Amino acid sequence: MIHLKGKIALVTGGGRGLGRAIALALADAGADVAIASRTREQLDAVAAAIRAQGRRALTLETDVSDSAAVAQMIAAVRAEFGRLDVCVHSAGVAWAERLVDLSDEAWQWLMDTNLNGTFYVCRAAARVMVEQKSGSIITLASVAGVKGVPGLGAYGASKGGVIALTRTLALELARDNVRANVIAPGYFRTDMNAGALDDPELGAKIVKRIPLRRVGNPEELGGLAVYLASDAASFVTGETFFISGGEMAQ
Ligand SMILES: NC(=O)c1ccc[n+]([C@@H]2O[C@H](COP(=O)([O-])OP(=O)(O)OC[C@H]3O[C@@H](n4cnc5c(N)ncnc54)[C@H](OP(=O)(O)O)[C@@H]3O)[C@@H](O)[C@H]2O)c1
Repeated sequence: MIHLKGKIALVTGGGRGLGRAIALALADAGADVAIASRTREQLDAVAAAIRAQGRRALTLETDVSDSAAVAQMIAAVRAEFGRLDVCVHSAGVAWAERLVDLSDEAWQWLMDTNLNGTFYVCRAAARVMVEQKSGSIITLASVAGVKGVPGLGAYGASKGGVIALTRTLALELARDNVRANVIAPGYFRTDMNAGALDDPELGAKIVKRIPLRRVGNPEELGGLAVYLASDAASFVTGETFFISGGEMAQ
């Protein structure tokens, strides 16, 4: 049951990190995959890897904090593939600073990208899926969206918003056979947190908080995304899935 043959998927943030790993996992499970981000070279490299898997790929240079650009991105997927079955919204940014020191600009940038971007992408994808009467939306939040993490207050607030938005989306779309779920990762090694993980003191502190005593590899997230995208998850909606090496069990 866990395959995506014949499905059309879009992965925002698909140029690198978790989005890249998810895009490749979806393609491996049989989906044709559109990928979006702001960096052309990264998109081209991932598209080449998707095509090497024998699937169709589409690259879309898009800033997800721009509502009009997001609408164009979804229209381009539809124009190319005729439908949209799976939308994984992985594009996001992080910033670590204590709330008392945080500038208005940093706060706004995080909200524009992580929260507004999630709204724009989910709304545009949902409009297509409601019309089709089928679809699966997957948003990326974080453990910091539900628990306090010193230094990640603004990031956590944006991710808490992603969880709240996705839950309500699931309720609003259930009658249209459109599902919406959240993947909330703990620490995975990507460009987003390489600086923190490579800092000897901070890196060791982070790993000590994780019961499996290591951070995740992006490939370890692909299976969950494939499952949630697939018909095997047809009774799963409005849920938040933590994947954190045991961090969330504490
Ligand atoms: N890695 C972790 O440990 C971790 C943990 C919890 C949650 N997450 C979440 O997982 C998601 C993916 O993170 P990651 O670790 O893969 O980070 P990453 O390696 O930095 O990748 C982020 C992706 O998002 C894209 N992006 C950023 N801002 C964008 C914008 N305004 N418009 C379009 N695309 C944009 C980036 O492409 P461009 O910069 O080229 O646009 C890139 O493809 C994020 O939502 C993050 O918050 C990650």
